[in-house]
Amino acid sequence: MSADTTPDAAGPVPELRARAVACAERLRDAERVLLASHIDADGLTSAAIASTALERAEIPFETVFAKQLDEREVERIAATDYETVLFTDFGSGQLDVIAPYAAAGEFTPVVADHHRPAELPDGLDEPEHHLNPLLFGLDGASELSGAGASYTLARALEPPGGDNRDLAALAVVGAIGDMQGADGGLSGANQGIVEEGVAVGAVEEATDLLVYGRQTRPLPKFLEYASDVRIPGITNDANGAIEFLAELDLDLRDDDGEWRRWVDLTMDERQTLVSGLLRRAIASGVPADRIEALVGTTYTLPGEERGTELRDVSEFSTLLNATARYERADVGLAVCLGDRAEALDRARALLRNHRRNLSEGLQWVKREGTTVEDNVQWFDAGTRIRETIVGIVAGMAVGAAGIRGDVPILAFAEKSDEEVKVSARGSHALVRQGLDLSGVMREASRAVGGDGGGHDVAAGATIPTGSRAEFVAEADRIVGEQLS
Ligand code: C5P
Ligand code: C5P
Ligand code: ZN
Repeated sequence: MSADTTPDAAGPVPELRARAVACAERLRDAERVLLASHIDADGLTSAAIASTALERAEIPFETVFAKQLDEREVERIAATDYETVLFTDFGSGQLDVIAPYAAAGEFTPVVADHHRPAELPDGLDEPEHHLNPLLFGLDGASELSGAGASYTLARALEPPGGDNRDLAALAVVGAIGDMQGADGGLSGANQGIVEEGVAVGAVEEATDLLVYGRQTRPLPKFLEYASDVRIPGITNDANGAIEFLAELDLDLRDDDGEWRRWVDLTMDERQTLVSGLLRRAIASGVPADRIEALVGTTYTLPGEERGTELRDVSEFSTLLNATARYERADVGLAVCLGDRAEALDRARALLRNHRRNLSEGLQWVKREGTTVEDNVQWFDAGTRIRETIVGIVAGMAVGAAGIRGDVPILAFAEKSDEEVKVSARGSHALVRQGLDLSGVMREASRAVGGDGGGHDVAAGATIPTGSRAEFVAEADRIVGEQLS
């Protein structure tokens, strides 16, 4: 590692960096490594970062993905003949399951994660190679993602003269995929990674309109679906959006008569459009803080082609979720690793399906509404929403018409005949009042024979079929205690 490439992803916390160096040393000592990662945007980017770093360090490895790291999955991993297992974007929450295998010499775990660590049973030692921002006073839900932890490790794995800072692009995709941005922008150790990415030209930071789809959506759809902002007469209103655009007196169609996209507009045209939006928002009485939220920090990847999903980190992360959450992590990983042909085509097809599922799921939740208890609200989608995306749908539903934004939401979906998935989402305001959904999910699920964990603001669990009522009662009670 050359001296000029530090102040690094560990940013304000040298201990995190030191831990990464220790983890990297352990990996270098391994003959070969089994890399196990989580199936979402952050997990995929984590795996892509870690696998690239392992490859560059010439450490042989194999990659596997899991929806969830439970007893069964850890057992399966232990049954392989790998002596070193690198867990990325999970592992911390399951240290209690992993540690006994480590103690028995089945394998040596190296964990790069950002989830709330599990407490270890008496007599078991903390694993030595555990890289997690929460151990060093950083917030795992906003200051460093799984991909960020993996990036920190990747920097420590650099061979002499090597430079893994290009991987910052994927780390930013992972952090944004995990919703770690506030007003679009990243902070904490994430910000350190952005700076490294900017320094090598892998990431571009700008202040721009914070509407999803800047690269790919034709302008009318771009505005119609701008659900984060909600301007009456434009958002959720196809005709309204078109009328608004027509009134701007700009030439918004290309030579073929197709609508242009945000990315196609000149700075002047963008300015005109933003001014028009602001005028309209003010005139319709949108609160000032919502109007301010229209503009914020955005990240693009200049190495990717303009007008593609990959150029914008937020669209990139959705594309990845569209693969991994549908049992096609291999496709998402290939895209992360640079496949712009077959894998990208495949990912785009999966993305169309994912979008349809999200939109149908959201419609269903809005139609059915939630059941409000004393301290939580919940809905049970049964088989109507895939359990791998029910958390995303719950997050999108909060604050929509008829769904309260001031109580945590629990979302149930059937996982199998025996198991039900629960996703929980809160808000930063509730977290400031004491909400810790990670604790809620862990305690309430364990009370009914399941298990769970995650972050204070977003967490999940698996519980036995038939235990929903008891689980809701437990969760409701615990949230009540936390907020009192
Ligand atoms: O397992 P992992 O940490 O990658 O998953 C994070 C999940 O939590 C994502 O689905 C993300 O949308 C959600 N989340 C959230 N709000 C935050 C942080 C995370 O909804 N502030
Ligand atoms: O699956 P979902 O998007 O609801 O997950 C929210 C957060 O909770 C993620 O960070 C996920 O890794 C975590 N989680 C967990 N244990 C589970 C389910 C989810 O730690 N059984
Ligand atoms: Zn994550």
